[in-house]
Amino acid sequence: MNILLLGSGGRESALAWKMRQSNLLDKLYIAPGNGGTGAYGENVAVNPLDFEAVDAFATAHGVDMIVVGNEDPLVAGIYDYFAERRPGMLVVGPSKAGAQLEGSKDFAKRFMMSHGIPTARYRSFTAATADDGCAFIDELAAPYVLKADGLAAGKGVLIIEDKDEAKKALREMLGGMFGKSSATVVVEEFLSGIECSVFVLTDGNGGYRVLPVAKDYKRIGEGDTGLNTGGMGAVSPVPFADAVFMEKVRERIIEPTVNGLKADGITYRGFIFLGLINVGGEPMVIEYNVRMGDPETEAVMLRIDSDLVALMKAAAEGALGDMELKQSPKTAVTVMAVSGGYPGDYEKGKKISGIEDVAESIMFHAGTKRDSDGSCLTSGGRVIAVSSLGDSIADALQRSYGSLSKIAFDGMYFRRDIGRDLMNL
Ligand code: AMP
Ligand code: GLY
Repeated sequence: MNILLLGSGGRESALAWKMRQSNLLDKLYIAPGNGGTGAYGENVAVNPLDFEAVDAFATAHGVDMIVVGNEDPLVAGIYDYFAERRPGMLVVGPSKAGAQLEGSKDFAKRFMMSHGIPTARYRSFTAATADDGCAFIDELAAPYVLKADGLAAGKGVLIIEDKDEAKKALREMLGGMFGKSSATVVVEEFLSGIECSVFVLTDGNGGYRVLPVAKDYKRIGEGDTGLNTGGMGAVSPVPFADAVFMEKVRERIIEPTVNGLKADGITYRGFIFLGLINVGGEPMVIEYNVRMGDPETEAVMLRIDSDLVALMKAAAEGALGDMELKQSPKTAVTVMAVSGGYPGDYEKGKKISGIEDVAESIMFHAGTKRDSDGSCLTSGGRVIAVSSLGDSIADALQRSYGSLSKIAFDGMYFRRDIGRDLMNL
């Protein structure tokens, strides 16, 4: 079959790499792709948010299935667009209604409440109810968690220690700090614990498979310090997400989510990303995303021993049946090489050397592009996800750090402590 993958990050590189291994795959197109995805398929200059352009390309090139890498096209309704206009086209992802699990934090919280899914206590406020919001903050203990309802490129969550500052920030958010995204703000109780990312592929008919669990590292600095980033590394599996914990996740979170979507009449044939926190052994939901995680995917794909194309096709057709998703017992890690200055301002267009000398890791390109002479240049904050499989976290890390020592670009930075917190548990 011919597949069109939408996106351009490290996640899409990893999805493309994994799909390339499938016997079912004929042509793979990546729109727009990056400096590395050309190794797995053909990069095409189509804007994923221009559904008519996506449709025209897909129709002209005999595309059978569209895999949506990031949330924006899903929240904008790409699933519904094709369901209405091209009913034969398989689209891996939720309908616009389902994408609200990520597109609106208020919707996600209401969904969790109505299906009894464990999550932090919360209330939602608008400018008209800002005073009630401040009164609710008075009821909670510090720190205070304020979340812009809509998509805010990962920046819409504020965690504030001081009560008066939290009230001030609430009013600022409602006054437009994140534009329309913070016209509604969710205020919630702070939960304390270690986070992990659980990925589920569902067929919308109650069928689902759980993918390898991962943990990502969001802060720029070692020891989880400094600014939040898109993600500086990932590890899979996660030692604390053992069989007992995962059984709780399945029973209390995954099944009520999958069955709740169906009961609410919400079409959802794709990946569900559960951002979980382990509160004293009990899993609770911090957030839903409606796509795979980045950089978790760059680790998770290394641990899937089944045909991902077959699984996604079955999910998109609404019938996963008894199809197996085999997980490798090995450990995968990803360490992200980023541009100097990221997540603040950084320069682009730096020449990346040494990638071809790496044998022990898979170099998933993220913010890269090809120069006219074919050489590889940086073109984003997160540049290359250096991903390795090993017998333990330490073994896999040794490979990734060894590979990182072979590559270079002006200003390159990476965290040297990825996975360290999980090694002494
Ligand atoms: P979100 O965009 O909802 O994932 O929030 C971003 C990050 O803020 C999460 O990954 C958590 O680290 C943190 N966070 C969000 N909600 C809470 C909460 N209720 N308690 C503690 N930390 C939270
Ligand atoms: N790694 C977190 C995310 O993809 O949102």
